[in-house]
Amino acid sequence: MSRISRTFIVMAIAYACIGVAMGIWMGINQDFTHMHLHAHINLIGWTSLALFGVIYHVVPQLAQSKLAKLQLLLSGLGTAIFLVGLPLADAGITILLAVTGSLMVLAGTALFLWIFVSQTRARSQPA
Ligand code: HEM
Ligand code: HEM
Repeated sequence: MSRISRTFIVMAIAYACIGVAMGIWMGINQDFTHMHLHAHINLIGWTSLALFGVIYHVVPQLAQSKLAKLQLLLSGLGTAIFLVGLPLADAGITILLAVTGSLMVLAGTALFLWIFVSQTRARSQPA
């Protein structure tokens, strides 16, 4: 397994632990104030990062792209910044982190599209 794949998957599992723990806390306390945060910790933190990691593993030539580390930085750091920024935005404190983080998540996802298309184009096998 490549280092980039492992890093994505380790981050994803950590978010799964946090997101699931938060869901249980919400259910026990019947407090859904931070439901959006719970949803996005699970959906961006766990699901999306895990998918990046699994796809890097299934298609190993993706990790050979010089842009792969930049994609890890944008998606990994962007997710953290977004998830810290979301409750701050909800509380009316600042939207700066949520906006910055979400734009980094978008840039990381678009870069992943580019990496996937460019690295697989020439090597795809006929069905
Ligand atoms: C044991 C684990 C989990 C528990 C106890 C839990 C609990 C909850 C609770 C109590 C809510 C609020 C529901 C409501 O307002 O009616 C919720 C919402 C949500 N959860 Fe979880 N959750 C868990 C895991 C997950 C996972 C793994 C994901 C995604 C991969 C997820 C995605 C969502 C989403 C998207 C919503 C918002 C649903 C909506 O808009 O109505 N949850 N969860
Ligand atoms: C940085 C990227 C993202 C941003 C900025 C974002 C933003 C939002 C916003 C503004 C809402 C509406 C919340 C409300 O009703 O007040 C929402 C809801 C939702 N988003 Fe996202 N989203 C992002 C990524 C994703 C991803 C990757 C997924 C799924 C894999 C997802 C799944 C959902 C779902 C299921 C809901 C409805 C549950 C809820 O209200 O929390 N989002 N998102």
